[in-house]
Amino acid sequence: MSETGETGLSAHAREVIDQWIAKYPPDRKRSAVLAALREVQHENGGYLTTGLMDAVAGYLDIPAIAVYEVASFYSMLETQPVGRNSVSVCTNISCMLRGADSVVDYIKKKLGIKTGESTPDGRIYLKLEEECLAACCGAPMMMVNHKYYENLTPEKIDEILDNLD
Ligand code: FES
Repeated sequence: MSETGETGLSAHAREVIDQWIAKYPPDRKRSAVLAALREVQHENGGYLTTGLMDAVAGYLDIPAIAVYEVASFYSMLETQPVGRNSVSVCTNISCMLRGADSVVDYIKKKLGIKTGESTPDGRIYLKLEEECLAACCGAPMMMVNHKYYENLTPEKIDEILDNLD
């Protein structure tokens, strides 16, 4: 993040947050909290710090606890440092019936980490298993940095993960 100024947020983050604030009535700035956290997390390499959450709270003029609650509730928000590429394997019913457990096991073995951990080189974060991501007809599937990959096979997984920066 750069040019944080006294708000603790970058000029770009403030611009993005302002666009979201404008979508809601003036007394409902807090409705922009999720979008604000998503943007700030993106700028900070994939996770939120207490300082950044406090900055969002200050900017939206809401209590810090209200921001912490949102940050700890939604699975797309991280409050600890994680690898720069986020991998989430869906293990809900359709994916489970089509081999999601094997997908998770394959990735864990390939990367040498458990779910909820990042590779030591900081390249890949294997998130805790994910609930239905609404791509059941492509089961088993996973999301990598917000992009969906479906009908996974070991060969496809290798290609996807090996090509991450
Ligand atoms: S169960 Fe995996 S996308 Fe729906």
